[in-house]
Amino acid sequence: MPRKIIIDTDPGQDDAVAILLALASPENVDVLGIVAVAGNVGLKQNAMNALKVVELSGRTDVPVFAGCDRPLKRQLVTAEHVHGVTGLDGPDLPDPGIMLQDQHGVDFIIDTLERAAPGEITLCALGPLTNIATVFSRAPHLTARVEEIVLMGGAYFEVGNITPAAEFNFYVDPHAAEIVFRSGVPITQMPLDVTHQVLTNHERLGRISAIGNSSGMAVSQMLGFSERFDLEKYQWEGAPLHDPCVIAWMIEPGIFSGRQINVEIETQSELTMGMSVADYWRVTDRPRNVNYIRNANSDQFYNLLIERLTRLA
Ligand code: RIB
Ligand code: CA
Repeated sequence: MPRKIIIDTDPGQDDAVAILLALASPENVDVLGIVAVAGNVGLKQNAMNALKVVELSGRTDVPVFAGCDRPLKRQLVTAEHVHGVTGLDGPDLPDPGIMLQDQHGVDFIIDTLERAAPGEITLCALGPLTNIATVFSRAPHLTARVEEIVLMGGAYFEVGNITPAAEFNFYVDPHAAEIVFRSGVPITQMPLDVTHQVLTNHERLGRISAIGNSSGMAVSQMLGFSERFDLEKYQWEGAPLHDPCVIAWMIEPGIFSGRQINVEIETQSELTMGMSVADYWRVTDRPRNVNYIRNANSDQFYNLLIERLTRLA
């Protein structure tokens, strides 16, 4: 039986690849809806990008919503320097024929959880956690309906990518991340520690561009654009594919390994704002609230991704 999921996202090229992977895998995930959040670029553009990716996939049965347009307390920080002005630079995707749903994305998540049985819905978060934190603040009883939150964000051994201490998604909305990590909902976290193990390279990019469908071509163009930031910074051969780790976990968790530990979010110090403090060596007796994923088999990851992209129109 496919697991019912809601994808919360700020597309971004890596978000787009994660969305395509999910929409190509109906036997594994039943995508009830996709909700945009402000992050990589502004909300309006992220929502437009989500519509373009859904249309590219051919899965226009999946509704797209716009959620929160700014973090809970802080000013919005965006990442055009990584993702380009549109947030999805690389391919020139046509304006979508499909429209955004009228309902606010937070209301969609609340309504979906209200109608769900306990533990029926999994939230897959690919951007700042503003929408999900707003749901939990407005309707705390709904935390019991969530089977699991699988999210990309944070870092410990790899330290920060937007500040020396913090990863982008948690830095943009640290207060939202704090609410989610204290919610009591089971969390599987994909930090930079694991996403930096699934790097593209010439061989993998070659296989993606050889897929021969429009999704493969678009992904090849997306990664060809967004990788330059990481290559200049880290001097790697290829760039990490952050957000697709969340969906790959839903499909093939055996690709990954980690441990149940305590993770808390810094919201007091400007120096370390948004840092995810992982008690990886269990030196405290803080509650072990997170399944912290530290390792991935990158060959298995790319074989899965390429096999699934090949399915799309
Ligand atoms: O730090 C990586 C994360 O920030 C990814 O989700 C990427 O899409 C950006 O949102
Ligand atoms: Ca993202």
